[in-house]
Amino acid sequence: MRHPAIHVDPPKGRLGVLLVGLGAVSTTFIAGVQAVRCGLAAPVGSLAQMGTIRLGKRTEQRTPRISEFVQLAALEDLEFGAWDIFPEDAYESAATAGVLEPALLQKLREPLAAIRPMPAVFDRRYVKRLDGPNVKQGHDKRDLIEQLRTDIREFARTRRTDRLVMLWCGSTEVYCSEAPAHHSLVAFERAIDANDPVICPSMMYAYAALKENVPFVNAAPNLTVDTRALLQLANEQHVPVAGKDLKTGQTLLKTIIAPGLKARLLGVSGWYSTNILGNRDGEVLDDPESFRTKEVSKKGVLDHILQPQLYQQLYGDICHQVQINYYPPRGDNKEGWDNIDLFGWLNYPMQLKINFLCRDSILAAPLVLDLALFMDFAQRAHRSGIQEWLSFYFKSPMHAPGLYPEHDLFIQLKKLKNTLRYLRGEELVTHLGAEYYG
Ligand SMILES: NC(=O)c1ccc[n+]([C@@H]2O[C@H](COP(=O)([O-])OP(=O)(O)OC[C@H]3O[C@@H](n4cnc5c(N)ncnc54)[C@H](O)[C@@H]3O)[C@@H](O)[C@H]2O)c1
Repeated sequence: MRHPAIHVDPPKGRLGVLLVGLGAVSTTFIAGVQAVRCGLAAPVGSLAQMGTIRLGKRTEQRTPRISEFVQLAALEDLEFGAWDIFPEDAYESAATAGVLEPALLQKLREPLAAIRPMPAVFDRRYVKRLDGPNVKQGHDKRDLIEQLRTDIREFARTRRTDRLVMLWCGSTEVYCSEAPAHHSLVAFERAIDANDPVICPSMMYAYAALKENVPFVNAAPNLTVDTRALLQLANEQHVPVAGKDLKTGQTLLKTIIAPGLKARLLGVSGWYSTNILGNRDGEVLDDPESFRTKEVSKKGVLDHILQPQLYQQLYGDICHQVQINYYPPRGDNKEGWDNIDLFGWLNYPMQLKINFLCRDSILAAPLVLDLALFMDFAQRAHRSGIQEWLSFYFKSPMHAPGLYPEHDLFIQLKKLKNTLRYLRGEELVTHLGAEYYG
C-alpha cells in the first residue's frame, strides 16, 4: 500500500555536527569524511553513502542509492565541532588515538588541526580513569548547561550552519539507573537546580541540545537521553533522539549469528564472549563501574533475540558471559573471541568459535556519519522523540515503553528501509511476493 509522501524540508545550507568527545571514534569519523571529500577513499561501511534501496516490485528494477532516494546533507556541507577535556586539536588527537596511519593523517592535517575542542562539562566521579585540563568552570549545573547552550549558538553563528546535530562520542560513564529525578521534566529540572548527582554530564549535554532544538544521538551505553524526562523534553521541543551504544564488533556479529541459529531452531546452552582492547575506551572500561554500563548493554541482546520465555527448551538455560580486558599493546585493534555451545537434533552438542580481529573505530566511524545524516533527515521530516528505525546502529536501541527492543540486524535493516520508503510515499516491501504468482 502506498502512502502520501511526508513533506521533508530540503537540506539547505550547512549541517553542523557537534561531537561530545574528540577521541578515537570522533577523529576517525572526521578524518574519514575529509578523506572521502578529497577523493582519497570511499565511504565503506556507510549505508547512507553506499547502500541502495529497492522500490516497488522486483520486476521494476528500481534500486536507487539511499543518498539519492532521500535528500541527505552532502558531505561537503558538514561542519565539525567538538568538546573534550583534552585541549589537543583533531589532528593531534587522531595521532594519539593511533587508528589511522600517519601518512594519511598528514594529508588531512590542515582541516583536522582547525578543529579545536571547546572546554568540556566534566566530572571525574562519572569517568574515573580520566582527567584533563580543558574543562569548564561553573557555579553549578544550571550554569554549566547555560555555557553549553552558548557554545551551541556560537558555533552555529560563527560557522554559519543552518542546522545542527549532536552526538555523544565521549567516554562511557559509570552505571546509572533511572532515578525518580529522571521520571519527569519537572523533577529533572528541579534536580539540575539542586545540583543532584543523578544528573550526569552526558545528560547536561543532551538537555542543552534539546533546549536548542538540536537532535541528539548517544553513541555510548550511558543512560543520557534515555529517560522519561528527556524524552518528554524531546517531544515538547519536536526534536528527534536516538541511542544507545554503537553496534560495532562483537555485538554486531552476535546480532547476525543469533537470529540465524534461532531461525533453524538450534539450541544454545552457552555463549562466552571476551575481548582485548588497548585504546582509551578500553582503559575507561577497565573501571568496573564503567564496564557495568557496557555489560548491561552487551548482555541484553541475546535474551531479546532468542526469546527464552517462548523457547524454553532451546534457550531457557543459556549461560551468557561477556568480558573486556584492557590490553594496551593492541591499541584500537580489538580482538574478540566467541565460543558458542549449541545443540541440534536429539540434543547433540556442537561448538562454534569466532575470532574477530576488528578495528573498533573503523567500524564505528561510518555509523556516526549515517546517524548524523539520518538524524538531520528525521528533523527535516518533522519527526520527534525516539527514532526506533535507527535501531540498526545500536546495541541497546531505545524504544517506546512496553515494547521490547528489536535486536535482529536484518529486521532492523528492513525497518530502516521501510521507514525511508514510507516517508517518501513508496510502497512498503513486505516480501509477501503473492503478486508474482497468478
Ligand atoms: N569504537 C566502537 O566500536 C564503539 C562502539 C560502541 C560504543 N562506543 C563508545 O563510544 C565512546 C567513544 O569511544 P572512543 O573509542 O572514541 O573513546 P575515546 O576514549 O578515544 O574518546 C572519548 C573521548 O571523550 C572525552 N570525554 C570524556 N568525558 C567527556 C565529557 N564529559 N565531555 C567531553 N568529552 C569527554 C575523553 O576525553 C575522550 O577524548 C565510548 O563511550 C565508547 O564506549 C565505541
